[in-house]
Amino acid sequence: MKTERILVTGGTGYIGSHTVVELQQAGYPVVIIDNLSNSDSAVLDGIERITGIRPDFVEADCTDIEALKALFAKYPDIKGIINFAASKAVGESMEKPILYYRNNLNTLMNLLELMAPNHVKGIVFSSSCTVYGEPDVNPVTEQSPIKKATSPYGNTKQISEEIITDVINAGAPFKSIILRYFNPVGAHPSAEIGELPNGVPQNLIPYLTQAAMGIRKELSVFGNDYNTPDGSCIRDYINVVDLAKAHVIAVERMLQDKSEDKIEIFNLGTGNGVSVLELINAFEHATGVKVPHKIVGRRAGDIEKVWANPEHANNVLGWKAESDIEDTMRSAWAWQCRLRERGIM
Ligand code: UFG
Repeated sequence: MKTERILVTGGTGYIGSHTVVELQQAGYPVVIIDNLSNSDSAVLDGIERITGIRPDFVEADCTDIEALKALFAKYPDIKGIINFAASKAVGESMEKPILYYRNNLNTLMNLLELMAPNHVKGIVFSSSCTVYGEPDVNPVTEQSPIKKATSPYGNTKQISEEIITDVINAGAPFKSIILRYFNPVGAHPSAEIGELPNGVPQNLIPYLTQAAMGIRKELSVFGNDYNTPDGSCIRDYINVVDLAKAHVIAVERMLQDKSEDKIEIFNLGTGNGVSVLELINAFEHATGVKVPHKIVGRRAGDIEKVWANPEHANNVLGWKAESDIEDTMRSAWAWQCRLRERGIM
């Protein structure tokens, strides 16, 4: 077991839980802080079943600085932070902007403020390809222009990147790695943990697997009149376990001072653009299960096409998305089947 503990905020959430598994398997002691606003403490059981270790867990809100201070006092061995704690629904952010700004930005500022006094060496921040908006050119590199955010959610990601940059440039005694995720999908191959959307899913894969299970009548494909080969939108779907592994590499890079740079930004994607219709086909081919679907009108605010140039992460981080899209679709389906077995969905 390593001695440097990692604080994972939002660690019972979708990407957070997969990252806790990878951290523990790499030998890091972990403490999770999560307010369970969009997750369930049963996720801790899934993590324990996979790794044999139950991560320490504090149920609290990261906007509560006193709770964070108490956590750092209890765990003086925290040397790295991975910050997943954030609200993430684009549509909800349009209706409740203050919730998004308060939750996402206060969480980040509290953590940044407490890092130096607690001798934390680095923070990994979950950003998003949403910062590139509708790109003029694909694939996008880290140098591609940042476009004006089209939702409060997206704006919190842009502002967060700026806050981190300003704090580091002001001489903060720690490092940061900003990871811009493309579209995380799939579940742990054990089907012990996965994505657990609250209510009607807004994202493609949970909706798709629920439609395949018969929980939803059919998947609506939002538009087939885009300027893409089959008319549906194109994204870069990245396996959540691959994504989780990048966080372990990133946090280790800061703990071990592998880079001269105090702040680094990486795109995390596969480099392949896949359309909605192609993804449905990949799911059906991989699982043998049909996805009832129909074409409907475009969804307001959707990006037509975006996919990553992941070379910077490949070459500098030494990380590459390994998973095959059909394996990823099988993992998403196995997770949906597990939820059914457990009577959850
Ligand atoms: N889609 C459908 N039907 C659905 C849901 C989605 O056709 O029921 C389509 C969308 O139109 C889009 C694609 O599937 O073309 C992916 O949609 P998601 O909602 O799964 O993902 P987005 O790319 O729209 O959004 C994701 C994250 C956001 C983030 C954004 C950009 O969910 O948090 O990527 O980073 F802001």
